[in-house]
Amino acid sequence: EIFAPRKNAEGLPLWDNTTREPLIDDMRDVLQEGGFVAGPIVSGKLIARGEPYAITSPHDRQIEIGQCRNSDSDAVEAALDAAQAAAPDWDRRGGEERAAILEKAADLMEADRPAMMALLVREAGKTLENAQSDLREAVDHLRYAASQARENFGTPKRLPGPTGEENLLSLHRRGVFACISPWNFPLAIFSAQIGAALAAGNAVVAKPAEQTPLIAARAVRLIHEAGVPVDILHLLPGPGEVVGQALVKDARVNGVAFTGGTDTGIAINRDIAAREGPVVPLIAEMGGLNAMIVDSSALPEQVVDDVITSAFDSAGQRCSALRALFLQEEVADRILEMLTGAVRELSIGDPLDYSTDVGPVIDPQAKLALQAHKVRMRAEATEVLDLPLPDDLKSGTYVSPAIYEIGSLSELKAEVFGPILHVVRYPSDGLAAVCDQINASGFGLTLGLHSRVEQAAEYVAAHARVGNFYVNRNQIGAVVGAQPFGGEGLSGTGPKAGGPNYLERFATERVVTVNT
Ligand code: NAD
Ligand code: ALA
Repeated sequence: EIFAPRKNAEGLPLWDNTTREPLIDDMRDVLQEGGFVAGPIVSGKLIARGEPYAITSPHDRQIEIGQCRNSDSDAVEAALDAAQAAAPDWDRRGGEERAAILEKAADLMEADRPAMMALLVREAGKTLENAQSDLREAVDHLRYAASQARENFGTPKRLPGPTGEENLLSLHRRGVFACISPWNFPLAIFSAQIGAALAAGNAVVAKPAEQTPLIAARAVRLIHEAGVPVDILHLLPGPGEVVGQALVKDARVNGVAFTGGTDTGIAINRDIAAREGPVVPLIAEMGGLNAMIVDSSALPEQVVDDVITSAFDSAGQRCSALRALFLQEEVADRILEMLTGAVRELSIGDPLDYSTDVGPVIDPQAKLALQAHKVRMRAEATEVLDLPLPDDLKSGTYVSPAIYEIGSLSELKAEVFGPILHVVRYPSDGLAAVCDQINASGFGLTLGLHSRVEQAAEYVAAHARVGNFYVNRNQIGAVVGAQPFGGEGLSGTGPKAGGPNYLERFATERVVTVNT
């Protein structure tokens, strides 16, 4: 069944240099012009209290892209008071009116492509293709939320009941939603959370990731320009443990949408649970320890292509990315040989250069953690490959792609968020044991399978506890409306962004029964 007559954004053909080069020129102009600033945006005003600090590029830490100020407690207070007061009116406007505004916001973002993509490349370190995907996904989420608001937040649903009774079911705002987002999809996930919360009639206080406040500030300006009242959407940049935590603990917040690391999600859950008063929902999308299983019936060329995309696209900085490749013993050597050959062909470098496959990781802390993991792997596992880093990338936070062979998934204690792939061999009768290993990790986000044996796919689909299972393709890049995305267990509370059941999680249901 098709849920909404809506088309996803198409984007530009970046492979065509007559399209790409003018776009890059525009992006350079925007960056040259500068003037990117972020800070608390409360009731539409950028608050300039406190010391500004520089936001620099993962590609080159000498490049300052803009400046940001953190939110102080007065900004948090003012945003929460204004949001709480404004929410009822926004809810009363109804799904249709909110949908039209969100669609306008999507159009404005699309029209702002050069600036949006420039920030995605320079602030978040995304390659050109990844920057375009992030923008497209943001636009798709806004339009999808709009279509869902129209469908479900309009006329109440009449439910069957006894004769002489009318039963009407309707969806309403919860109140104020805190939307806390990560840096790795600083526009798409930011917009997905906000779009859903707003479409469902809530006011929003948005806490962007520390690394990417500039694009968040620009997006908020566009959403206001589209018609979302300034008291309904506020931006509160700052450290998660300060600003994020203050929001989560505040009684004026009636729901939390969080996307980020598993440890952070668990900490937020604890803080919400410790609150006095009503129980409020937490929609949490968290990390993954994602596997792909390859058996001897798989097509090796396709496997290699899909592994490269799944593990190394976005420098491995996708929650969906492949971390553990299970290779059936019989084909393991051949696939590993082909895979290492393909990894050697990857080009690591400036994400603004179209030929770059692997850009930088987000910050020095991420680079240190990944380097420490490589040291551990060199001591405890078998190194298959660790590409050298080109010399000219020393002032950026780059980590080269690497592959290690390990004995079991349990050797990875936590998500490894970067371009590092682990390989595990398994025997021909070992599919059930592989599924058990994957389930035992406690994570449940994405899983890939390459197999031409139908029963294998059926078995894995029935036994693996994961949110998104991909067969004979790569396992990243879930498409809004087609592959609703979200995990279970340590990977999330279950709701799927970009799916038909997402908006209800931001709403409360009411039934009116009338004796006629
Ligand atoms: P993170 O957990 O460090 O931060 C995410 C957000 O939470 C940031 O805005 C941060 O400031 C805030 N935060 C931190 N501590 C907080 C606290 N105590 N209270 C309230 N807010 C707090 O994650 P990150 O490094 O920004 O993002 C990468 C992680 O996100 C990876 O683990 C990745 O797998 C995960 N992720 C998951 C999905 C998904 O859909 N499942 C999507 C993208 C990213
Ligand atoms: N939704 C993103 C993906 O599927 C995280 O890669």
